[in-house]
Amino acid sequence: MSHGGPARPLAARKSGPLTGVADVPGDKSVSHRALILGALAVGETKITGLLEGQDVIDTGRAMTAFGAEVVRHGEGAWSVHGVGTGGFAEPADVIDCGNSGTGVRLVMGAMATTPITATFTGDASLRARPMARITEPLSMFGARAVGRSGGRLPMTIVGAADPIPADYATPVPSAQIKSAILLAGLNAPGQTVVTEAETSRDHTERMLAGFGASVEVEEIGAGRRVILTGQPELRPQTIAVPRDPSSAAFPVCAALIVPGSNVSVPGIGLNPTRAGLFETLRDMGADLTYENAREEGGEPVADLRARFSPDMKGIDVPPARAASMIDEYPILSVVAAFAEGRTEMRGVKELRVKECDRIDAMATGLRDAGVTVEEGEDWFAVDGRGPEGVPGGAKVTARLDHRIAMSFLILGMAAKEAVTVDDAGPISTSFPIFEALMSRLGASFEDAA
Ligand code: S3P
Repeated sequence: MSHGGPARPLAARKSGPLTGVADVPGDKSVSHRALILGALAVGETKITGLLEGQDVIDTGRAMTAFGAEVVRHGEGAWSVHGVGTGGFAEPADVIDCGNSGTGVRLVMGAMATTPITATFTGDASLRARPMARITEPLSMFGARAVGRSGGRLPMTIVGAADPIPADYATPVPSAQIKSAILLAGLNAPGQTVVTEAETSRDHTERMLAGFGASVEVEEIGAGRRVILTGQPELRPQTIAVPRDPSSAAFPVCAALIVPGSNVSVPGIGLNPTRAGLFETLRDMGADLTYENAREEGGEPVADLRARFSPDMKGIDVPPARAASMIDEYPILSVVAAFAEGRTEMRGVKELRVKECDRIDAMATGLRDAGVTVEEGEDWFAVDGRGPEGVPGGAKVTARLDHRIAMSFLILGMAAKEAVTVDDAGPISTSFPIFEALMSRLGASFEDAA
């Protein structure tokens, strides 16, 4: 479901110092997968720390529509009574995945090798996003798809009655494509193979193995080949969802640019396929440390500490790192505006097909805030203002994109003049407590209606 209600304009102005502990919510990617694999296991999966953002809630509703029993027991504590691989029932109505590309693409994969038909839709942002990247590999299993022109939602998938396993090389580094194929491969006999030239986040492979599927991973250069043996009986699991590094990015980056700040962000998942932003910030000279590094539920975890870092320098972000920080370029470009010198971000074409065109959204808003930005089809570069500071004063359109809204609100906390976003509503898709958490640290918001 999209956030629906009226737009909620919000402004953030010069704040701080930001201090204290930021307890960010559960990882969105892991939360979607816990619900979907729980629904495909035989018996009851128990989940703690589930992100209760709208994207994940919508995936939970989808799992209910396909016949699983999804129950909330308390804050972040959920159970899923699964129907087994191949056990999905045909939904009686259209599946509305709201704002979530991950939700719709993974669920399409999960149902594509079961002989049922389902129609998917979403909000205006999701209905504009490309789905052929998913339906093309799903057709190799024997599934059929009919959507709007350009492969857009609403779209109907007719699942394959006699699925055949696929062997597919992803044309772009995308965990959503890889995961849709692996989930489809669960109900195909024999081996399904996905090859990616650059390694994307690997939560699906890790969690499939945890549920008892046979998954082999071969490193090939900068990428991987993943081989899944189909038709396993998935055993229900107890899953503790780590806290989301992509949400942690917001209080961390705010602390780096707001004078006097010192913020601890405990228990953050630092899976190397997700942690590229933190490496990049350290390369820029950020005072960002990892404390109590440990392992939780098979994922590396640490407590992050970020302190105000007035001496950060612009850098060329290695394109090879893009997949491991793809959702963090909007907030990185905000930090870059406060650093000294130019930050170049290359190999980031995928940003153009996220919840909105994120290169265009960031370039437009940053320019309106007095920052020089250059862009090309697959890159953008920010000229950091260093000690001169960022003027701010921009009124930004969030374009139904949670990360654009949060990034510009953080900009407002450190800029000279307040920054306003036209609608903070989409923030609830991934980080429903963003405003409360940032206020507690010392951020100043004001209702801009
Ligand atoms: C996600 C994968 C990424 C990311 C998205 C979450 C996932 O998309 O941008 O927010 O959970 O698999 P792509 O895999 O399409 O790059």
